[in-house]
Amino acid sequence: MHKRVGGAGIWGLGRYLPERVLTNAELERMVETNDEWIVSRTGIRERRIAAGDQTTTDLALPASRQAMERAGVTPEDLDLIIFCTNNPDTVIPAAGPVLQGKLGATRAGAFDLVAGCSGYIYGLSVASQFAASRTYLTILVVGADMLSRVVDWQDRTTCVLFGDGAGAAVVRPVPDGRGILSFRLACDGTKAGEIIVPAGGASRPATHGTVDAREHYLRMNGREVFRFAVTACEKVAREVLDAAAVSAEDVALFVPHQANLRIIENSARRLGIGMDRVMVNVDRYGNSSAATIPVALAEAEEQGRLKQGDLVLLVGFGAGLTYAGMVIRW
Ligand code: UT7
Repeated sequence: MHKRVGGAGIWGLGRYLPERVLTNAELERMVETNDEWIVSRTGIRERRIAAGDQTTTDLALPASRQAMERAGVTPEDLDLIIFCTNNPDTVIPAAGPVLQGKLGATRAGAFDLVAGCSGYIYGLSVASQFAASRTYLTILVVGADMLSRVVDWQDRTTCVLFGDGAGAAVVRPVPDGRGILSFRLACDGTKAGEIIVPAGGASRPATHGTVDAREHYLRMNGREVFRFAVTACEKVAREVLDAAAVSAEDVALFVPHQANLRIIENSARRLGIGMDRVMVNVDRYGNSSAATIPVALAEAEEQGRLKQGDLVLLVGFGAGLTYAGMVIRW
C-alpha cells in the first residue's frame, strides 16, 4: 500500500564524502577492467573511499552536523535518530546509538534501519510518521555506508561500482500540503540472494572456512538487479505520483538512487522526465548505497536546484530486493 502523508518535511540537508578519490585508471591497475567499460556500462568515472581509520559513523557525523546547522537545530533538540545503513561500524551495537553519543544528542532515541540502497526512503518514511503525528518533532535521518569495506577488491563485477559517503536530513512537522506528500515501501524477498554478503550473519557465522571462501564480501547478480531496477523504479514512481495526485510532468527534480547511469536514464525515459530534471552524481561518487539519495539531495540544494514549492520525486532500489518511492513538495 502507498501512504499519503501530511505535515512532515525536510528542514535541513547535509553531506560528507571522504577525500580520497579512486579513479577508473587506478582500478585498471587493480583488476582486469578499463575506463571505457566502466563509463559505458555504469557512467561512473570516480568514487570516494574512506580513510583506513574512518568508520561509517565518522562519515555520518559531519553530514549530520551540517544538516542540523542548516535546519537550525542543536543536538539537544533531537528526539530521534534513524541511521540508514548496510554497514554499521560494528555488527553489535548499531550505528545510530554510536552517532547519538558522538553528537551528544542526549535526549534522542536511536536505531539502525537496514533496507539496502532503498534504506533512505524507508528512513524518511518512518520519520514522516513520527513528525506528522507530532509524536517526535525533530528527527535526524542519516544515510551512510562504507561498502569499500565489504566489496571484494578482486571481483571486477562489483568493486568498480561502489563508493563511500554519508548524507543527512532533519525531518520536522510542516504545514499540510508541504513536505512529504506520499511514499511507498516495497520489496521482493524472493530475490534476497541477488545482493548478498553470505557469511558473518546468524546463518553463517565467521569461521576460517568462510574467510578462506571470501564469503564475507558482497556478491551481486548484476544483470538480474538491473532488470529488476528498471521495472521497479517506474512502477513505484507511478504509484507515489498517483498517491500524491500529481504527474511526472509536474516533477521539478527527479532524484533516483545513484547506482548506474543507464538505470537512471532508462527510468527517466520511461517516466517521460527529461534528463535536465534529473539529479546525477553517480559519475563522481559511484554507488554509496543508502547515502546516494541524501547526498544527491544536499548537492542539488547547494546547486540551487531545489526551490520552495518544487515537486521532488525520489526512487530507490537495492538489497532485499527492496524498492521505494517518495514525492516531496519542497
Ligand atoms: O544499489 C543496487 C546495486 N546494484 C546495481 O545497481 C547493479 C545493477 N546492475 C548493473 O549496474 C549492471 O548489471 C552491471 C554494471 C553490474 C554490469 O553491466 P552489464 O551491462 O549488465 O554487464 P554484464 O554483467 O552483462 O557483463 C558483460 C560482460 C561480461 O563478460 P562476458 O561474460 O560477456 O564475456 C562480464 O564478465 O562484461 C564483463 N565485465 C567487465 N568487464 C570489464 C563485468 N565487469 C567488468 C568490468 N570490466 N569491471
